[in-house]
Amino acid sequence: MKIIFKVGANHLIGIDVGFSSIKVAEVIRSGKKFQLVNFAYEDLPEGSIIDAEIHQLPEVTTALINCFQKSGIKNKNVVLGLFGPSSTMFKKVEISQGTKDEMEDQIFWEAEQYLPFDSEDANIAYHMVGENEGGGIIVIVAAAKKEMVKVYSDLVEMSGLTPHVFDLNLMSISNLYEVTASEDEKKENPNTLFVDFGGQYTKLMLLKEGIPVFSREINLGGYNITEDIQRKMGITFSEAENLKIFGDGQGNYPEDILTIMASNMSNVIGEIKKTISFYMTTVNQDNIHFCYITGGSSLLPGLIDKLAEALEVKVKLFDPLAKMSISKKIESEALDNFVRYRGATALGLALREINE
Ligand SMILES: Nc1ncnc2c1ncn2[C@@H]1O[C@H](COP(=O)(O)OP(=O)(O)OP(=O)(O)O)[C@@H](O)[C@H]1O
Ligand SMILES: [Mg+2]
Repeated sequence: MKIIFKVGANHLIGIDVGFSSIKVAEVIRSGKKFQLVNFAYEDLPEGSIIDAEIHQLPEVTTALINCFQKSGIKNKNVVLGLFGPSSTMFKKVEISQGTKDEMEDQIFWEAEQYLPFDSEDANIAYHMVGENEGGGIIVIVAAAKKEMVKVYSDLVEMSGLTPHVFDLNLMSISNLYEVTASEDEKKENPNTLFVDFGGQYTKLMLLKEGIPVFSREINLGGYNITEDIQRKMGITFSEAENLKIFGDGQGNYPEDILTIMASNMSNVIGEIKKTISFYMTTVNQDNIHFCYITGGSSLLPGLIDKLAEALEVKVKLFDPLAKMSISKKIESEALDNFVRYRGATALGLALREINE
């Protein structure tokens, strides 16, 4: 599943091209044990990727090359995550049993209803995850715009790497959850929501006993908050970014910054609540049992409490390294923190290939 197309290979490097930085991760597995052996990130110039489209290809290529060099990764075979509400699609569908061709027809027909672009422009992949109570088949469908696959393939190839698998960034969380959550946890909190508070998007992924059932990418992120601070305070973008992340350097934030952050957080939390409530009442008819958050903007002060109050559920920072050891090579505390809060997507992608 999760494959848009695949050429082969066993050991792949996860690449997460995010709005604010590129992250690369190499995870090795021995039996049931996982180790993060290499990780690096490289900031992207502001505006180089907008709405999942690469606007500054040479800069992004240089960043990817630098990122690989810094990481010490020798393996050039990679899995790349695609993203963006207008260029990718994720959908859980239910179809009736039939011959392979009949079922494929149903899957593609269902998928077409939800594609945000023409079906001729789509690469579509699917995975049958099991049977529903009525004897139908539950299928997870992932799609990406062909043009996007081409652009990101070119980026990878120009960086001297070989693209083997294209996944959806959104799916990386379920890969990781498979590693971090016990069967008991999945049973105890069957409806677990993940929220990735990134730079440009806030991504939602709802897992039901570990199976991805619903997702959404909301076009609001940390960038919007920094921009708002910049505008309202009349300062530069990087001054605003610093104020947002560090406050006065001692963990204190000026009152007007706290107000701007709070109003932006309310906006995004309002969207999350609306989206999830609608899905839960119309489709799932159940409650969310637990919520994990990740991404750089998940560190915004007060976010956890505000989200918990809105969703009426326990919210915790997700630890992607909970069941993974870290190689001694990655021993800086700064990098360790970066991996923990902003590396989940790259780590999840890097796991992608291991079970094949
Ligand atoms: N300590 C912090 N407090 C608040 N915000 C932070 C902190 N650290 C980083 N951020 C914000 O997190 C964002 C970057 O996070 P992350 O790396 O998860 O996003 P991304 O992957 O680049 O974006 P996207 O997933 O939307 O493509 C930036 O907007 C940055 O300002
Ligand atoms: Mg991200």
